[in-house]
Amino acid sequence: MAKAYLKYRIKAQKRHGVHSPFVYDLSEEVIHKSGAINSDAIEGLRKDLTRDSSRIKIKDHGAGSRINRESERSISEIAKVSASPKKIGQLLQRLASYLHLENILELGTNLGLTTAYLASSYHSKVWSLEGDPTLASLAVKNLQKVGLKGEIIVGRFEDTLDLTLDQIEKVELAYLDGNHQKKPTIEYFEKILPFTNTESVIAIGDIHWSQDMEEAWEEIKEHSAVSLTIDLFDIGLVFFRTDRAEKEHFTIRL
Ligand SMILES: C[S@@+](CC[C@H](N)C(=O)[O-])C[C@H]1O[C@@H](n2cnc3c(N)ncnc32)[C@H](O)[C@@H]1O
Repeated sequence: MAKAYLKYRIKAQKRHGVHSPFVYDLSEEVIHKSGAINSDAIEGLRKDLTRDSSRIKIKDHGAGSRINRESERSISEIAKVSASPKKIGQLLQRLASYLHLENILELGTNLGLTTAYLASSYHSKVWSLEGDPTLASLAVKNLQKVGLKGEIIVGRFEDTLDLTLDQIEKVELAYLDGNHQKKPTIEYFEKILPFTNTESVIAIGDIHWSQDMEEAWEEIKEHSAVSLTIDLFDIGLVFFRTDRAEKEHFTIRL
């Protein structure tokens, strides 16, 4: 990870070096902006969760499960370790608001903190998939605590993704944030692809987390449907816009 981060920092462009008008505007209005709707309520919830020492038994169906498939963990530890940080939730919310992305699909709800950010963006409808039933029910309660709505679907992505996609019909923003391994990541990406349009964005978490995920990211970048990608290290953004003469890949410092 440290080596990958160093590589990223060397490659990363500052915003003024970006010559694509679309990417420059995105950098100004989304990537380098701060703040988000409902931030105080959601960060208040995060604070409460990081102080909650109660322990729950969870079953992780993803890449983090190689050693302990079923484990007992404190809510506090889950909120600190597994939930995406504030900067990612807020970035995705600003992205959805700026590009008017309404139908949003999240793979990996966890405690629902990013779900809450996504559910707060303008006109959004959020579907979020979570394999662990205890986490899923906590996420439902957490969304209620901050007065937000989202559809939390319980079950392994392998069992719930197809059915959810059939129900949603179109996906404008997808956040792939569970089971960070090459093969499943590419499979989820390919399943979601037919439900996207030229305005859609697929965001992929932890693209530099392992060699496996580096390979998944490189393969997705080369996919024929992809016209533009932005590597922000913690997350990669994939676009399908057709207003570009050729495929472009940006690495931008977050
Ligand atoms: C990194 S956490 C998600 C964090 C959340 N998106 C956020 O931003 O706060 C990944 C979640 O995905 C779930 N998960 C991993 N693999 C899964 C699978 N194959 N099916 C269903 N859920 C899975 C885990 O239980 C875990 O809660």
